[in-house]
Amino acid sequence: MISDATKARFAKEVAKYPAEQAQSAVMACLSIVQQELGYVSSESEKVVADFLGMAPMAVHEVTSFYNMYNQKPVGKFKLNVCTNLPCQLRDGQKALHHLEHKLGIHMGETTSDGLFTLQQSECLGACADSPVLLVNDRKMCSFMSNDKLDQLVDGIRAAEGKA
Ligand code: FES
Repeated sequence: MISDATKARFAKEVAKYPAEQAQSAVMACLSIVQQELGYVSSESEKVVADFLGMAPMAVHEVTSFYNMYNQKPVGKFKLNVCTNLPCQLRDGQKALHHLEHKLGIHMGETTSDGLFTLQQSECLGACADSPVLLVNDRKMCSFMSNDKLDQLVDGIRAAEGKA
């Protein structure tokens, strides 16, 4: 459900562009939706499309192209492991498999306690630091050996009282 307050935030983004280029604010509007609702549903895409005068499919193309947009609810901590080719050559896939085993879920799933969602990602721009992962689209973790992956997960669980 997109509130009037959220639409007011959309309007502030749209105001940054020439009147006939409202659709330039699409990424910002989708980010606002995700900040407020945690993910971007197809209903939210339609609201954004209406607001910006775009086709819903054009909005969906943006949501589905950038994997920072969540298309369904995710856990409190989203772990995106890079499995693009340079990282595959330097244990990126191994790191993903280690986390699947550690968390007891498969890639794309969320743990039953809602704490972790595990995803793979395209290049994060830190190939030389592989294996790399991004926590909640913000915090980059480099050189993630199995030991460091365990420390990361155990540290979050402890901090959240779920050790
Ligand atoms: S391929 Fe993984 S960071 Fe570039």
